[in-house]
Amino acid sequence: MCGIIGVVGMPNAASALVKGLKRLEYRGYDSAGIAVVTGKGLEIQRAVGAVANLERQAAPLGTVGIGHTRWATHGPPTEANSHPHRDCSERLAVVHNGIVENYQELREGLQARGHRLLSQTDTEVLAHLIEERYHGDLLAAVQETLPLIEGSYGLVVVSADAPDRIVCARMRSPLLLGVGQGQMLLASDATALLEHTRSVVFLEDGETAELTQERVRLFDAHRKPKIPVVRELPWNLEAAEKGGFDHFMLKEIHEIPEALHEVFRGRLGMAGDRFDVEGALPESALRGAQRILVLACGTSYYAGMVGRSIVEQLAGVPVDVQLASEYRYAPQTTQEGTLAIFVSQSGETADTLEAMRRARASGCRTLAMVNVVGSTLAREAEGVFYLRAGPEIGVASTKAFVNMVGGFYLLGLHLGATRGHLTPDECKRLAGEMRTLPRLAQRALETAGDVAPLAGEFFHGAEHAFYLGRQINHGLAMEGALKIKEISYLHAEGYAAGELKHGPLALLTPDFPVVVALSDKEPTYGVMVSNIGEVRARGAKVLAIATETDANVHKHVDHVVRVPASDPLFYPVPACVALYLLAYHAARGRGCNIDRPRNLAKSVTVE
Ligand code: G6P
Repeated sequence: MCGIIGVVGMPNAASALVKGLKRLEYRGYDSAGIAVVTGKGLEIQRAVGAVANLERQAAPLGTVGIGHTRWATHGPPTEANSHPHRDCSERLAVVHNGIVENYQELREGLQARGHRLLSQTDTEVLAHLIEERYHGDLLAAVQETLPLIEGSYGLVVVSADAPDRIVCARMRSPLLLGVGQGQMLLASDATALLEHTRSVVFLEDGETAELTQERVRLFDAHRKPKIPVVRELPWNLEAAEKGGFDHFMLKEIHEIPEALHEVFRGRLGMAGDRFDVEGALPESALRGAQRILVLACGTSYYAGMVGRSIVEQLAGVPVDVQLASEYRYAPQTTQEGTLAIFVSQSGETADTLEAMRRARASGCRTLAMVNVVGSTLAREAEGVFYLRAGPEIGVASTKAFVNMVGGFYLLGLHLGATRGHLTPDECKRLAGEMRTLPRLAQRALETAGDVAPLAGEFFHGAEHAFYLGRQINHGLAMEGALKIKEISYLHAEGYAAGELKHGPLALLTPDFPVVVALSDKEPTYGVMVSNIGEVRARGAKVLAIATETDANVHKHVDHVVRVPASDPLFYPVPACVALYLLAYHAARGRGCNIDRPRNLAKSVTVE
């Protein structure tokens, strides 16, 4: 989950590395470090905490270097555990993202052979193993080391003895090369490369590469040379900057209308007869699916829950939603006739990737719904539907969630139309409503825009909160609760409203705020109001995210945040804008580090 970067041919490598690391901080911010080849050999700088701490040190001068921002897995966030790690000669340095699973055994072997290891990390063994195999050819030394390693790696190596190059390798951990004019780069994420180039080469598992100023040499898992395929990234630098907002999260909430516009752009035919899948997945696998299985983690899992309601309602196809981290270890059953959909912002989440491999082995057809173009999920699934939300930097996902829901609207419409579950008139009406969703989200930004004082007051002094919804709004409530707990550290649980009386009601006191998501036109409106009554009877205060046309709700709750009215099927879009603003302002009021919540990382490439 760490961020890694490497540069060759930069006039000032240290400053390019630090700038790149700042763009990667969402992958981890326990410590940061760089290694630059200078006239003196390798100069290494490391600092605990944010990349800004590294920036305070005087930059070494050189044109070749590597950098790392850490999300700790082995050993606490200390300077000694910060990357880059060196070998005994201190002429070779390594940065690594992933986990060396057999590092204990490798470490003991190295120590027995006289190596001095200075950190508690799994990574440090790599530097020493490469040192043992280095006889003047850095690439060969790395390639000979890789078969010894069990686990995952995005690995970058630099040596004072090969001062014009960096060498990298990939196994189940993202890595892409940036091809510039007289400059070569690599990074775990595209956002770190955008300032220099949009021309990239995605590495595959088992591949290694050597980068010099003028060229990239790429090798497959059998060490055979391979011609690099250069692709153009669809993002620009401005999209990865804060653009005047105080936090990436706030900027990304405000980008929801535009993101939604993008997910629907060119994809909303009146008849719903197209679903824009790239790759080899045949249309018949979509249309003919007897069952859909959605696999995802975190926010993407909750988007899947919302997606289940959408697809079942629009297309009448049974949909099951499972956590990828559970599915990957569950007993395997035959799943012929199942379309498995993998939902992911990053396309790199380790559990989701493994779930995909597992699903494929069980006979599922595989479709990735991802945001990051060219990510591993996008490449490994049979088909990919791109979410087009643009770069999402805030650790707490927002606009990507909305576009995932947008993707399920398109899929539901497509399946409903092609399987005859919807009439042409219904398709036309639904497509028309979908077209208005960006505007609906924009209006929600206005109607819920002044929620800051209420967010402070409503959660003041609370340690726990419930978020309630039913049916399509159950997943939405889960997402609302996740958002507030990850960025404000308030303990919150999302619940299906009808379940509260089966236990959790016992927790309610006047200090226990409850947020309810309900749309006035939903079939379960009446029972939702009854559930609100049960909550208030225990003295708990209630805030409703309700539609502008709901003339009744204010009689039953303490506070109302209004969102524009729509068909209840589309209520999750404006409602999640309000839930996100509520969480953002609550966290801000509590002085939390919104874009970088403690202990979390944006892209979870370990299991
Ligand atoms: C991490 C992030 C979450 C995200 C989850 C799944 O936990 O902090 O925001 O929802 O991973 O990530 P994915 O990239 O697969 O959507």
